[in-house]
Amino acid sequence: MRRAKISVIGAGNVGATCAHWAASKELGDIVLLDIPDKEGVAKGKALDLACCGPIERFDASIVGTSDYADIAGSDIVVVTAGLPRKPGMSRDDLIQTNVKIVRSVAEKVAEFARDSVMIVVSNPLDAMVYTAWKASGFPTNRILGQAGVLDVARFRTFIAMEIGCSVEDVSALLLGGHGDDMTPLPRYTSVHGVPVSQLLPQTTIDACVERAKMGGGEIVKLMGASAYYAPASATIQMAEAIIKDKKRIVPAAAYCDAEFGVGGYFVGVPCLLGAGGMEKVIEIELNAEEKALFDTSVAHVKDLVKVVGDLFPDLK
Ligand code: NAI
Ligand code: 2OP
Repeated sequence: MRRAKISVIGAGNVGATCAHWAASKELGDIVLLDIPDKEGVAKGKALDLACCGPIERFDASIVGTSDYADIAGSDIVVVTAGLPRKPGMSRDDLIQTNVKIVRSVAEKVAEFARDSVMIVVSNPLDAMVYTAWKASGFPTNRILGQAGVLDVARFRTFIAMEIGCSVEDVSALLLGGHGDDMTPLPRYTSVHGVPVSQLLPQTTIDACVERAKMGGGEIVKLMGASAYYAPASATIQMAEAIIKDKKRIVPAAAYCDAEFGVGGYFVGVPCLLGAGGMEKVIEIELNAEEKALFDTSVAHVKDLVKVVGDLFPDLK
């Protein structure tokens, strides 16, 4: 049986940790690619990870490189290339630098792995997926962004901490862009089927919503660097759903035109992931308050995409 192939562009914290999770789940062969100056880092991390195989019991070819020819035949390409934020920075502050990086990477992915599904992780996420889509010309079912799985995992973790229950039993939903105005949805949050509103006071639920929204920033403040374990775990859950055609429904930055009335942007919505990539956006009913929060978040994404278009008019 042919093994799946996962290429990760950017061998920094998130990229290398994606390779780690993918190897530990034995999802397939892995290519870790970085710029020529960092080829030694990519090769070193790949070799170090390959040597975990006998201990962790996975069989996979794990290659570090700076040569895009090595990503040929990839089923999944994860894009983590770009600057992460430092304390005091917002994700949006990264746009000027990362749009150039993500554009150049997406053009290479289109040249060398044109049949892959591209999962973009670089920030500011929703604008970077849009950039990669325009630069690659990929069909909208084969390009999406990782943010919602991470953001909702943070929300689920904080809810479980408050209740003192297993995180596995907390199911939740979140919409919108990967920014401070993302929209966790307590009305669609339950604990083994029991609405969270029956288990926690509203003030505690509101505090969990706020903590999830600021979850990335909380970690940056604590360790002076951007998070990577959970972002990478979230990304590889998406890759696994696609490789194994699991038809999982997860929140991810997917292309929405008529869907939710978005009008042609990538924003976080529930979607179904399978062998076809992003197979379907699942539209749900929003009340007036949820719709207003979602619209604010989408307006912010549109502002960021406008910055992309101002910098690169051909990507409009
Ligand atoms: P990092 O600095 O550890 O790694 C980034 C890597 O990208 C570096 O090794 C760098 O050499 C490489 N790179 C830069 N330009 C490149 C190019 N043209 N081609 C190939 N590789 C290139 O940063 P980290 O922590 O891994 O974060 C990566 C990105 O992911 C950042 O933009 C960060 O904000 C974002 N991020 C997104 C999350 C999400 O949920 N969507 C969560 C966490 C981080
Ligand atoms: C995070 O949410 C910075 O996007 C990154 O951790």
